[in-house]
Amino acid sequence: MDDRRTFLKKSVMASAVLAVPTVAGCACLDTIRAKVPMKTRQVNRALVVWYSQTGSTRRYGRLMAKTMQEAGIKVTAGDLREIDQKTAASYDLLVVGAPVFYYDAPSFVQQWVRSLPDLGGMPVAAYVSFGGPEGNQHNAACSILECLVQKNGVPMTQKAFMNIGSYPLSWAGDKINKTPWKNQNLPDRQTYEQVRQYALHILEQVAKGQPAEFSKKITLREISTYFGPIWWTKRSIEKHYILKDKCIACGTCVEKCPAQAIDLANHSVNQEACVMCFGCLNNCPAQAMYLEYDGVRLIGFHEFLKMKNIQIMEPAELKG
Ligand SMILES: Cc1cc2nc3c(=O)[nH]c(=O)nc-3n(C[C@H](O)[C@H](O)[C@H](O)COP(=O)(O)O)c2cc1C
Repeated sequence: MDDRRTFLKKSVMASAVLAVPTVAGCACLDTIRAKVPMKTRQVNRALVVWYSQTGSTRRYGRLMAKTMQEAGIKVTAGDLREIDQKTAASYDLLVVGAPVFYYDAPSFVQQWVRSLPDLGGMPVAAYVSFGGPEGNQHNAACSILECLVQKNGVPMTQKAFMNIGSYPLSWAGDKINKTPWKNQNLPDRQTYEQVRQYALHILEQVAKGQPAEFSKKITLREISTYFGPIWWTKRSIEKHYILKDKCIACGTCVEKCPAQAIDLANHSVNQEACVMCFGCLNNCPAQAMYLEYDGVRLIGFHEFLKMKNIQIMEPAELKG
C-alpha cells in the first residue's frame, strides 16, 4: 500500500500527466524502444512465463508454448515464480504474460522483470489477459515491455486477450443476480486461435529482425493508475482474514499471495503488505477466506463460476 507521501507524489504526477495533452497537444507517453541490438533472429529455445491467479494467463501461456513447440522450438514454460531467473538470459526469446490488475500489469510482475539478469539484446514479447472491456490493456502490456527493455530486452510485439473477468468486486452483492454475465463465453475458439496466431507472429517478427516501438497512451484509466486504485480498494475492504473453522490448511492462499501477506498459523492477513489481488479469495478451495466489502461478504472466482453455471472452455491441445 502507498504511504501518504507516495500517494501525494503520485497525485502530483497524475496532475502533470493530465496537463500533457493540453500543453503538448499529444496523447502518447515516452516511446519504448530497444536500447541495444537484437542478439539473434533464430529462435531455438524460448522461455514463456506468466503470472496468473485464476488460470487465464496461464492457459494462454501454455497454449503459446505448445504452438511454439509444434513449430519446432524448445520451450520452457511456467509460472514466473517457479522459473530460475538466473537462466533467463540463456534463451533466444522471452515472452512474459500477466493479467491486467487495476489498469496495469501487477507490480509483482514488474518487480520480477526488474530483478532479471541483463538480457543482452534478447527478443522479448508481452501479453496480458483482461476482463475489460476498457482495461487499459495496451498500457498494461507496455508496462511489461518497458521493464523488459530496461533489462536490455528487444521489444518485438505485445497483445491483449479478453476474458471473463475475475475481479470479485464486480459481482459483489446483488450484482451477481444479473444475467447473462458479461464475457461468460470467453475465452472461446476465436480467442484461442488469436493466441496461437500471436505465438507464430512473435516468431515471425524475430525472424524478420525488426524490433518494434510502443508508446503508452494517455487514457483516463492510465491516469487513474497514478491515484492508487489498489489503495482505494483497500480502504473499502472492511474485513480480511481466514475463517479458522473452515480453513483446511492446504496453503493455497499462501502459495497464491505474491506479497507474503498471509499468516496461515494465525489465520490473519497483513493489510499493509496485501496488494488486493484477491488471489487468496479467488483460489481458496474451502471458502475460508473472509473478505467483506461494504458490509457484504465477497465470494471467490471458482465459487462464482459454479453459482452462474459457467464452464471455462479449454483449448484442444491442453485437454487431458
Ligand atoms: C484484483 C483484480 C484487478 C483487476 N483489474 C482489471 C482491470 O483493471 N482491467 C481489466 O480489464 N480487468 C481487470 N481484472 C480482470 C483480470 O485482468 C482478468 O480476469 C484476467 O484474465 C485474470 O487473469 P488470471 O486468470 O491469469 O489471473 C482484474 C482482476 C482482479 C482479480
